[in-house]
Amino acid sequence: MMQRAAIKNSRAQRVDDKMAADTGLVCLQDYEQHALSRLDKNALDYYRCGAGEEDSLQLNRTCFKRLRIRPRCLRDVSLLDLSTSVLGATVALPVGIAPTAMQSMAHSDGELASARAAEEAGAIFVLSTLSTSSIEEVASAAPNAVKWFQLYIYRDRELTRELVRRAEWAGYKALVLTVDAPVFGNRRCIARDHFQLPSHLRLANFTGINESEIHDSKGGSGINEYAISLFDTKLTWDDVIWLKSITQLPIVLKGVLTAEDAVKGADAGAAAILVSNHGGRQVDGAPAAIEALPEVARAVGDRVEVYMDGGVTQGTDVFKALALGARMVFIGRPALWGLAHSGKRGVCNVLSILRRELEITFQLTGCASVVDVSSKMVVHESSYYKL
Ligand code: FNR
Ligand code: LAC
Repeated sequence: MMQRAAIKNSRAQRVDDKMAADTGLVCLQDYEQHALSRLDKNALDYYRCGAGEEDSLQLNRTCFKRLRIRPRCLRDVSLLDLSTSVLGATVALPVGIAPTAMQSMAHSDGELASARAAEEAGAIFVLSTLSTSSIEEVASAAPNAVKWFQLYIYRDRELTRELVRRAEWAGYKALVLTVDAPVFGNRRCIARDHFQLPSHLRLANFTGINESEIHDSKGGSGINEYAISLFDTKLTWDDVIWLKSITQLPIVLKGVLTAEDAVKGADAGAAAILVSNHGGRQVDGAPAAIEALPEVARAVGDRVEVYMDGGVTQGTDVFKALALGARMVFIGRPALWGLAHSGKRGVCNVLSILRRELEITFQLTGCASVVDVSSKMVVHESSYYKL
């Protein structure tokens, strides 16, 4: 058994070395750099942008860098297991793909490729409501992936109910309700450049509904005009209870940044909280997700599952989030950069790099599985400079 795991590891290492040699890309930043040279300005600005002066977008990265890992030694790491259980399903690694809208701007296979990559890696794939492939198309492209559906609640509740039914019928295993977007944040570069969904692409979960807004922005950015015309700014916690009343699927609340809202979410019956500042795209000045994670984990970690996303670009980031109370993390932009590189293969490569980096981090910190990653293993840098 021990020998088998060791052999598997060295094989994985060889496959990853070959992938790096073939592509010349060895880390997620390499994939980002490649995407910068490949994507057109309309798509790139939309994918990259944050809100306002992009302080919260930057914080998602810098706050990871302010954390220190306290490695432990001599703890037998010959047998590694990166798997974890999430809402009752076993996943091969504690990294999933966050919902990002309109993926076909990155590669013609769009969400189909990302879902297939998640299937191959044994990772969770979250499909955005605003996808360029439909709920059903993604389900049949990756039938064995663990798929969750991200939901925006529309003013038209029948339309919302229909999306939920379709996700249930297609075999999605959870609804990820985005709670930080009654409107979209003030994203300057896409307003400046009047972002539009290219005319050959469509919001595939809808036919005809306010499509002109997203294809033909009239001075602002198509995405904001779309949200203003359809999303419900009157949403309250009662709508979480309403959603729970119309579905058997577990509900993940995405976009919580405070202990207070995490408690409200758990009280309203959510199965999980995804700590997120939406990739820095909503409230500029909000904390990094990794900063908000400990207070949420402390407040509700014993009642519901807690995840995080925002700024994860290397295996050590995943490790830090696990230590601070996340059961798993999600990546948004890095998957888009993989997609832009080579569709499914590029997203597989990105997940594979993260898996490999996490394996090395586990081994170098004395952890053989996720249960060994304890809160004492990650501290804020300031704890080393106390007078
Ligand atoms: C997003 N995000 C997002 N969230 C959501 O709930 N529904 C959506 O449709 C989208 N769309 C979207 C598009 C793009 C281009 C980005 C960059 C982000 C937010 C996303 O799920 C996630 O919270 C962040 O992307 C995480 O940050 P990183 O990994 O991109 O740093
Ligand atoms: C965004 C939306 C679609 O961040 O959530 O662009």
